[in-house]
Amino acid sequence: MRRPVVMGNWKLNGSKAMVTELLNGLNTEVAAVEGVDIVIAPPALYIDQAAGLVKEGGNKLILGAQNTDIHNSGAFTGDVSPEMLKDLGASHIIIGHSERREYHEESDEFVAKKFAFLKENGLTPVLCIGESEAQNEAGETEAVVSRQIDAVINHCGIEAFNGAIIAYEPIWAIGTGKAATAEDAQRVHAFIRAHIAKHSKDVAEQVIIQYGGSVKPENALAYFQNPDIDGALVGGASLKADSFAAIAKAAAEAKA
Ligand code: PGA
Repeated sequence: MRRPVVMGNWKLNGSKAMVTELLNGLNTEVAAVEGVDIVIAPPALYIDQAAGLVKEGGNKLILGAQNTDIHNSGAFTGDVSPEMLKDLGASHIIIGHSERREYHEESDEFVAKKFAFLKENGLTPVLCIGESEAQNEAGETEAVVSRQIDAVINHCGIEAFNGAIIAYEPIWAIGTGKAATAEDAQRVHAFIRAHIAKHSKDVAEQVIIQYGGSVKPENALAYFQNPDIDGALVGGASLKADSFAAIAKAAAEAKA
């Protein structure tokens, strides 16, 4: 059985006051929730503050981050390294988010390098993949997600997916309120797992595949009731303690 993972991607949102309020609220909301890993990815600047609050809450929450560089130190102005993230207590690191692929022109190959470097540093990559609306309408979803996964397999080998997380996020569903149906998401998730199974059945069986894109308390359970949807990567709804906790509880309930 795969243990579900629900992760909150705060994106570029936060302040010291907001981090305190949100995490105090979350600590209370999830105190009694079992059977799901609940991860938060604040902006890097707030990870240290978040770590203190997570500790106060009895470490029920797991700390993550939204990006990493492919070096641990040196002349790389503005970047954040796996070693630094680890030093602050973050373990689950989002890479290849469509916003980074688009606004920072990150290629499949660059994302694969990040994947490899996170593994090398003992961190958990959360690899985001997914097609655009045009690609979806052209029937290219499977080709796009295969290409994005193959870039990692070619660079790191299939075993690198042991202990890693994939987040299937159709770009047209992110922040739009236009979520994929649970049936469509399940179909793509099953395809992704089968694609990985062509290389290794064992690796495919254990890899966590999250759905992301307009996940809300109202639609979360329907996703988690599907066999290949092992959790969610949540943007907007992770900025409120009650809605993020409701999504985590739905995952725990569906996978119990
Ligand atoms: P959303 O974002 O939940 O606001 O659609 C998801 C994501 O980008 O990870």
